[in-house]
Amino acid sequence: MLIKARINDEWREADVWPGASLLFFLRETLGLVGSKNACEQGECGSCSVWLDGELVCSCLVLAAQAHGHEVRTVEALATDDRLHPVQEAFIQTGAVQCGFCTPGLIVAVADLLEHDPRPSETIIREALAGNLCRCTGYAKIIDAVKIAAGRMQK
Ligand code: FES
Ligand code: FES
Repeated sequence: MLIKARINDEWREADVWPGASLLFFLRETLGLVGSKNACEQGECGSCSVWLDGELVCSCLVLAAQAHGHEVRTVEALATDDRLHPVQEAFIQTGAVQCGFCTPGLIVAVADLLEHDPRPSETIIREALAGNLCRCTGYAKIIDAVKIAAGRMQK
Protein backbone atom coordinates (compact mmCIF):
# COMPACT_ATOMS: atom_id res chain seq x y z
CA MET A 1 0.00 0.00 0.00
CA LEU A 2 1.11 3.54 -0.71
CA ILE A 3 1.91 5.51 2.43
CA LYS A 4 2.28 9.26 2.25
CA ALA A 5 3.24 11.22 5.35
CA ARG A 6 4.78 14.53 6.23
CA ILE A 7 8.18 13.58 7.64
CA ASN A 8 10.35 16.32 9.13
CA ASP A 9 8.40 18.99 7.20
CA GLU A 10 8.58 17.21 3.87
CA TRP A 11 5.92 15.02 2.25
CA ARG A 12 7.39 11.57 1.61
CA GLU A 13 5.78 8.47 0.16
CA ALA A 14 6.60 4.83 -0.39
CA ASP A 15 4.95 1.47 -0.99
CA VAL A 16 5.02 -0.89 1.98
CA TRP A 17 3.12 -4.05 2.92
CA PRO A 18 0.00 -3.35 5.04
CA GLY A 19 1.59 -4.74 8.21
CA ALA A 20 4.74 -2.62 7.97
CA SER A 21 5.60 -0.55 11.02
CA LEU A 22 6.29 3.15 10.98
CA LEU A 23 9.84 2.28 12.03
CA PHE A 24 10.25 0.07 8.95
CA PHE A 25 8.78 2.81 6.75
CA LEU A 26 11.24 5.37 8.14
CA ARG A 27 14.36 3.23 8.15
CA GLU A 28 13.99 0.76 5.31
CA THR A 29 12.07 2.74 2.71
CA LEU A 30 12.97 6.37 3.44
CA GLY A 31 16.53 5.84 4.68
CA LEU A 32 15.93 7.72 7.94
CA VAL A 33 18.07 5.40 10.04
CA GLY A 34 18.40 7.64 13.11
CA SER A 35 15.54 5.82 14.81
CA LYS A 36 16.95 2.49 15.92
CA ASN A 37 15.44 -0.96 15.76
CA ALA A 38 16.26 -2.91 18.89
CA CYS A 39 13.36 -4.80 20.50
CA GLU A 40 10.45 -4.17 18.09
CA GLN A 41 8.17 -4.70 21.08
CA GLY A 42 7.80 -1.24 22.59
CA GLU A 43 10.19 -2.06 25.40
CA CYS A 44 13.38 -0.10 24.74
CA GLY A 45 12.46 3.33 23.32
CA SER A 46 15.23 3.30 20.74
CA CYS A 47 12.72 3.90 17.94
CA SER A 48 11.02 6.94 19.51
CA VAL A 49 9.56 9.56 17.16
CA TRP A 50 6.75 12.10 17.26
CA LEU A 51 3.49 11.31 15.49
CA ASP A 52 1.33 14.42 15.32
CA GLY A 53 3.36 15.80 18.20
CA GLU A 54 2.93 12.74 20.43
CA LEU A 55 5.92 10.66 21.46
CA VAL A 56 5.47 7.09 20.17
CA CYS A 57 7.48 3.93 19.72
CA SER A 58 7.53 3.74 15.95
CA CYS A 59 7.93 -0.06 16.09
CA LEU A 60 4.43 -0.27 17.59
CA VAL A 61 2.75 2.07 15.08
CA LEU A 62 1.70 0.84 11.66
CA ALA A 63 3.03 2.86 8.76
CA ALA A 64 -0.60 3.04 7.65
CA GLN A 65 -1.47 4.93 10.85
CA ALA A 66 0.96 7.65 9.80
CA HIS A 67 -0.66 8.05 6.38
CA GLY A 68 -1.59 11.70 5.98
CA HIS A 69 -0.04 12.59 9.32
CA GLU A 70 2.95 14.51 10.64
CA VAL A 71 6.04 12.61 11.81
CA ARG A 72 9.13 14.13 13.36
CA THR A 73 12.27 12.08 13.88
CA VAL A 74 15.64 12.60 15.54
CA GLU A 75 16.96 13.79 12.17
CA ALA A 76 14.85 16.95 12.57
CA LEU A 77 16.57 18.14 15.74
CA ALA A 78 19.92 19.41 14.51
CA THR A 79 20.15 22.27 12.05
CA ASP A 80 22.74 22.40 9.26
CA ASP A 81 25.33 24.06 11.48
CA ARG A 82 24.20 23.31 15.04
CA LEU A 83 23.31 20.30 17.10
CA HIS A 84 20.22 20.46 19.28
CA PRO A 85 21.08 21.52 22.88
CA VAL A 86 20.12 18.04 24.09
CA GLN A 87 22.54 16.46 21.60
CA GLU A 88 25.30 18.85 22.68
CA ALA A 89 24.69 18.05 26.35
CA PHE A 90 24.83 14.30 25.73
CA ILE A 91 28.23 14.69 24.09
CA GLN A 92 29.47 17.03 26.82
CA THR A 93 28.62 14.68 29.68
CA GLY A 94 29.70 11.47 27.96
CA ALA A 95 26.13 10.16 27.91
CA VAL A 96 26.86 8.46 24.59
CA GLN A 97 28.77 5.20 24.68
CA CYS A 98 27.77 2.60 22.08
CA GLY A 99 25.13 5.13 20.98
CA PHE A 100 22.42 2.65 20.12
CA CYS A 101 19.93 4.03 22.65
CA THR A 102 20.97 7.63 22.06
CA PRO A 103 18.57 8.76 19.30
CA GLY A 104 15.57 7.48 21.24
CA LEU A 105 16.80 9.13 24.41
CA ILE A 106 17.48 12.41 22.63
CA VAL A 107 13.94 12.44 21.25
CA ALA A 108 12.47 11.54 24.66
CA VAL A 109 14.49 14.26 26.40
CA ALA A 110 13.61 16.87 23.78
CA ASP A 111 9.95 15.92 24.25
CA LEU A 112 10.23 16.17 28.02
CA LEU A 113 11.85 19.61 27.89
CA GLU A 114 9.26 20.87 25.41
CA HIS A 115 6.56 20.01 27.94
CA ASP A 116 8.46 20.66 31.19
CA PRO A 117 11.43 23.03 30.84
CA ARG A 118 12.47 22.56 34.50
CA PRO A 119 11.94 18.89 35.33
CA SER A 120 12.97 17.52 38.70
CA GLU A 121 15.28 14.49 38.75
CA THR A 122 12.29 12.31 39.64
CA ILE A 123 10.36 13.59 36.64
CA ILE A 124 13.41 13.07 34.41
CA ARG A 125 13.77 9.46 35.57
CA GLU A 126 10.05 8.83 35.09
CA ALA A 127 10.09 10.38 31.62
CA LEU A 128 13.02 8.22 30.54
CA ALA A 129 11.82 5.01 32.18
CA GLY A 130 10.85 3.62 28.78
CA ASN A 131 14.29 4.18 27.27
CA LEU A 132 16.76 1.42 27.99
CA CYS A 133 20.52 1.96 27.97
CA ARG A 134 22.88 -0.93 28.58
CA CYS A 135 26.07 1.13 28.73
CA THR A 136 25.94 4.33 30.71
CA GLY A 137 24.26 3.57 34.03
CA TYR A 138 22.02 6.61 33.35
CA ALA A 139 23.89 9.07 35.61
CA LYS A 140 25.49 10.88 32.67
CA ILE A 141 22.19 10.90 30.83
CA ILE A 142 20.49 12.59 33.80
CA ASP A 143 23.36 15.10 33.97
CA ALA A 144 22.89 15.82 30.26
CA VAL A 145 19.17 16.47 30.71
CA LYS A 146 19.89 18.97 33.50
CA ILE A 147 22.50 20.77 31.42
CA ALA A 148 20.24 20.91 28.37
CA ALA A 149 17.33 22.17 30.47
CA GLY A 150 19.50 24.97 31.84
CA ARG A 151 20.70 25.99 28.40
CA MET A 152 17.27 25.90 26.79
CA GLN A 153 15.89 28.29 29.40
CA LYS A 154 18.37 31.01 28.46
S1 FES B 1 12.50 -0.92 18.90
FE1 FES B 1 10.69 0.12 19.42
S2 FES B 1 10.62 0.15 21.57
FE2 FES B 1 12.37 -1.07 21.08
S1 FES C 1 24.99 4.06 25.10
FE1 FES C 1 24.94 1.91 24.63
S2 FES C 1 22.89 1.32 25.02
FE2 FES C 1 23.02 3.35 25.72
